[in-house]
Amino acid sequence: MILVTGANGKTGRAMIRALARHRPVRALVRDLGQAGELRALGATDIALGDMGDTGSLQTALDGASQLLHIGPAMDPNEVQYTTNAIEAAKAAGVSQFVYYSVMHPQRREIRHHRLKLEAEEHLIGSGLAYTILEPIRYMQHLDPIWPRVVEAGVHAMPFSVEQKFNIADLADLAEAATRVVVEPDHLYATYELAGPEALSQLDMAAIISKVIGRDVRAEAVTLEALERRVRAAGLSEDRIEQMLNMNRHYDQHGFRGNPNTLRMLLGREPATFQDYVERKAAELSA
Ligand SMILES: NC(=O)c1ccc[n+]([C@@H]2O[C@H](COP(=O)([O-])OP(=O)(O)OC[C@H]3O[C@@H](n4cnc5c(N)ncnc54)[C@H](OP(=O)(O)O)[C@@H]3O)[C@@H](O)[C@H]2O)c1
Repeated sequence: MILVTGANGKTGRAMIRALARHRPVRALVRDLGQAGELRALGATDIALGDMGDTGSLQTALDGASQLLHIGPAMDPNEVQYTTNAIEAAKAAGVSQFVYYSVMHPQRREIRHHRLKLEAEEHLIGSGLAYTILEPIRYMQHLDPIWPRVVEAGVHAMPFSVEQKFNIADLADLAEAATRVVVEPDHLYATYELAGPEALSQLDMAAIISKVIGRDVRAEAVTLEALERRVRAAGLSEDRIEQMLNMNRHYDQHGFRGNPNTLRMLLGREPATFQDYVERKAAELSA
C-alpha cells in the first residue's frame, strides 16, 4: 500500500491513475467528498487528514509501506508539511519516502524552489530511505488556455515567446514515479525529470498549428495582465506574488533540463509536445 498526499490535485490524480495499476493506493484528502472521484481513478483507500497535522498523517500511514508526498503548489508551508510527513513516516516505519519536489530547487529566488530544496535537505538527513523526484514544468499548462488557442488562434503565456522550456508530459512523470515505487533499486536517488525538447512559445504555437490545421500565434501576456486576471479570480496575495515571481523568472531564463533520466526510468522516449497535442486533440474530438 502507498499513501499519496496532495491526492486530489492535478499531480496527485495523475499519480493515482498510474500507481493504481501496480499497487493498492490510499489517497489523503481534506474532504471526503473527493473520495468518489479518487476511487474512480483507482484509489482503493481514502484517508482523511491534513499535512499540517502530523498525527493525521501517521494515522493515514497505518498499514502503508510507502509514501508519495506531494505538497500543494507554491505553498508557504512546504517545509513544515514535508517535515510533518517525514516524522509520520518514521513513526509508521515506511520503507520508502518518495518526495515530489521540483527541477532546480537550487533556483532559490523562486520561493517554492527554495522551500523544496530545504525540504529535500530534511529528507536526506532524516534516516529514511527516500527517492526525490525533481519534475520540470508540465505540458498540461496548455490545458487551461486550450479553448483560446483553438478559438482565437493565440497561445499566450506570461513570459517571453522566445525562452525555451523542456516541458514534460504529466502522464510520463506519473509513469516514472510508478517505476520508482514499484522497482526495488531507486532508493537514495534524486532524479531530474525533463521533457525531450527545448521549446519556446513560438515553437509550441507552430506545433499546435500543425496538429489542428489552423494558424496559432504566440503572445507574451504581460505580468500586469496576469496580475489583474489572477486577482479577479480571487487568488491570495501570497499566491499572486509567487506566480508573478515565477513567471518573471521564466521570462528571463526559461526552464531547460535534460531528458536522460526520464528516458531511463520510462525505458522509452518521453512524449514530445506534438504527441501530447495530438492526444489532446483526439480526446476532445472523441
Ligand atoms: N505544475 C507544474 O508544472 C509542476 C512542476 C513541477 C512540480 N510541481 C509540484 O507539484 C506539486 C503539486 O502541484 P499541483 O498543481 O498538482 O497541486 P494542486 O493541484 O494545487 O493540488 C494540491 C492538493 O493538495 C491538497 N492540499 C492542500 N493543502 C493541504 C493540506 N494542508 N493538507 C492536505 N492536503 C492539502 C489540496 O487539497 P484540496 O483539494 O482539499 O484543496 C489539493 O488536492 C507542487 O508541489 C508543485 O510544486 C508542479
